[in-house]
Amino acid sequence: MSESFASTPQEAAAWRDALDAQGKRVVFTNGCFDLLHAGHVRYLAEARSLGDALIVALNGDDSVHQLKGPGRPVNTAGDRAEILCALEAVDRVTVFDEPRVTGLIRTIRPHVYAKGGDYTVETLNPEERSALEDVGAEIHILSLVEGRSTSSLLRKVQSGEDPDPDGKLRLAVLGSGYGSNLEAILHAIDEQVLDARVALVISDVADARILTVAKNHNIPALWIDPGNSGAGLSAAAQKEILDRLRGAQVDLIALAGFMRIVKEPLLSSFAGRILNIHPSLLPKYRGLDAWKKALEAGEKESGCTVHVVDAGMDTGSVLAQASVPILEDDTPATLHARIQRQEHSLYPRVIAGYAAKLLAGEP
Ligand code: GRF
Repeated sequence: MSESFASTPQEAAAWRDALDAQGKRVVFTNGCFDLLHAGHVRYLAEARSLGDALIVALNGDDSVHQLKGPGRPVNTAGDRAEILCALEAVDRVTVFDEPRVTGLIRTIRPHVYAKGGDYTVETLNPEERSALEDVGAEIHILSLVEGRSTSSLLRKVQSGEDPDPDGKLRLAVLGSGYGSNLEAILHAIDEQVLDARVALVISDVADARILTVAKNHNIPALWIDPGNSGAGLSAAAQKEILDRLRGAQVDLIALAGFMRIVKEPLLSSFAGRILNIHPSLLPKYRGLDAWKKALEAGEKESGCTVHVVDAGMDTGSVLAQASVPILEDDTPATLHARIQRQEHSLYPRVIAGYAAKLLAGEP
């Protein structure tokens, strides 16, 4: 990348010290700033107004790819740094490739930290929050400018129109069965607990109720022939699912009782953007009929887990869990029903939190 527009963390720290010696306050914010739009410009101007100078920590190219998925970043880190430096509000840019800005905060020691989105001080990443507290930075949460997002711009460019001009996160739900989690997600959207749109529902089972639920809500619903691959999906099915997800301009995938293992090319195309709900307290009882296994093992409690999907079976990083007691007279059916009640409340809330984080990374 072009070195001239980005400072090293040490250069940025020396710059901060020089300003501090003049009694000036440095504001720090971070983000991808991949395809600059008016929302970014307004956000950066507001951040800059909190102090005397603004430094932007810019996600490096690998980290933008991880966060934003296929085709991103549109602009390289060098170009993004150059564009940001041309803005009146921005005084310095530094590029980082670590997952968090904790190290940068400790090196640069900003006076003010600005973050966009649905965060509160309490929901900031704990490591970053304690680094901010250690360096004595004031924390400000700025609201993002509604209806302006890079994802929405890209949708417009790709399809000639934006299916979601209001900038809502586009969710796909994949399931093989009854679809009660889909119903819970739709209910959460109606209740404004979850700010998203279900853009597509896919099933590997032609007569699965989940497809009917989708159709009754006027959501595009699609059966994909899984091929003869046992618990897997044929290569053709994996590819078709990916094509359909891309065609529907999906941002995030929620697996809800999808009885097939998700593989490439889907996995890496949506890395970090596929969630699953599993009816056990992972890491216990991965795989099929998890509630039966918990009952047979004489457990006193079970529950459900929402996790990010990786290449293993129910092995991805855990986002949240809810537990339920196992009662003396429980049958597999009564226990599963109790777990599912927790699923219906947990899954939409976790999706909402994850979606807000994806969008909040939007700068
Ligand atoms: C849920 O119990 C989920 O944990 C499991 O499959 C079931 C799906 O139920 N993976 P539904 O189709 O959402 O009603």
